Amino acid sequence: MAYKTLITEIRDDVELIRLNRPDALNALNSQLLCELADAVTKADRDPKVRVIVITGSEKAFAAGADIKEMSEKTYADMATENFFTNDSNAILAARKPIIAAVSGYALGGGCELAMMCDFIIASDTAKFGQPEINLGIIAGLGGTQRLTRFVGKSKAMEMHLTGRFMDATEAERSGLVSRVVPAKNLLEDVMATAAKIAEKSAISVASAKEAVNRSYETTLTEGVLFERRAFYALFATEDQKEGMAAFLEKRAPQFRDK
Ligand code: HXC
Repeated sequence: MAYKTLITEIRDDVELIRLNRPDALNALNSQLLCELADAVTKADRDPKVRVIVITGSEKAFAAGADIKEMSEKTYADMATENFFTNDSNAILAARKPIIAAVSGYALGGGCELAMMCDFIIASDTAKFGQPEINLGIIAGLGGTQRLTRFVGKSKAMEMHLTGRFMDATEAERSGLVSRVVPAKNLLEDVMATAAKIAEKSAISVASAKEAVNRSYETTLTEGVLFERRAFYALFATEDQKEGMAAFLEKRAPQFRDK
């Protein structure tokens, strides 16, 4: 599939997916989300890829779902077209880690897309918001649920009801992003973080991702049980033997994803 709204490349072991609708601040239209789902699904299956990075431009990660595309839709259209749902499911289904590298605006569906990734590294220019209320709608790609889990009810509620933006400092303080870096270093920093993950055993990386994500879906007791089973299972891998032997022999591990 030749993409019209994305630029993709594999750098070392990392699939770098850049949203590319510069005239609309990377607004998410159906074509972009369909292409993104395709790119993520293929990267997830590609043995040459160990980590996926999704980014936008310096000015905008994505300024939301495409308002032009949505403006004339009716309730019946939205309810029957499954608007964006299947495409976002493809992103959530990836087993490989996905990092969002956010610079500039991450608004509405853009903020929701970033929150669907496994973690967010933001530039100091990043602005997060759920301004759908200004359009007479509400978030529709998980924003009322995920933002609340990230930053707590009070802040999430205020953002959804007023539409105000959160800057990078506030986003880091509130736990929405893992780190803030200077805008000029964003991609370099994210790629170095991705490279660090790419060195690990893909089996334990997938397991850690699955277990952390599980914490959002279940009770503490069930989540801890889930973790314990996954932890025990890793002792059936060669990489566990290698990782521990390497530590004891004071050398770097050579993981083989086995
Ligand atoms: C379509 C968009 C857009 C969007 C920006 N553009 N955001 N087009 N959908 N979400 C377009 C503008 O129309 C304009 O095109 C060009 O991008 C540049 O934007 P400007 O507004 O001129 O830039 P600026 O003055 O710098 O303001 C930036 C901005 C503003 C603050 C980000 O663009 C803005 O408020 N955008 C909308 C943000 C928003 O409401 N997002 C939520 C959408 S609803 P032209 O052709 O005029 O140059 C949503 C629902 C998700 O996300 C759920 C889906 C299931």
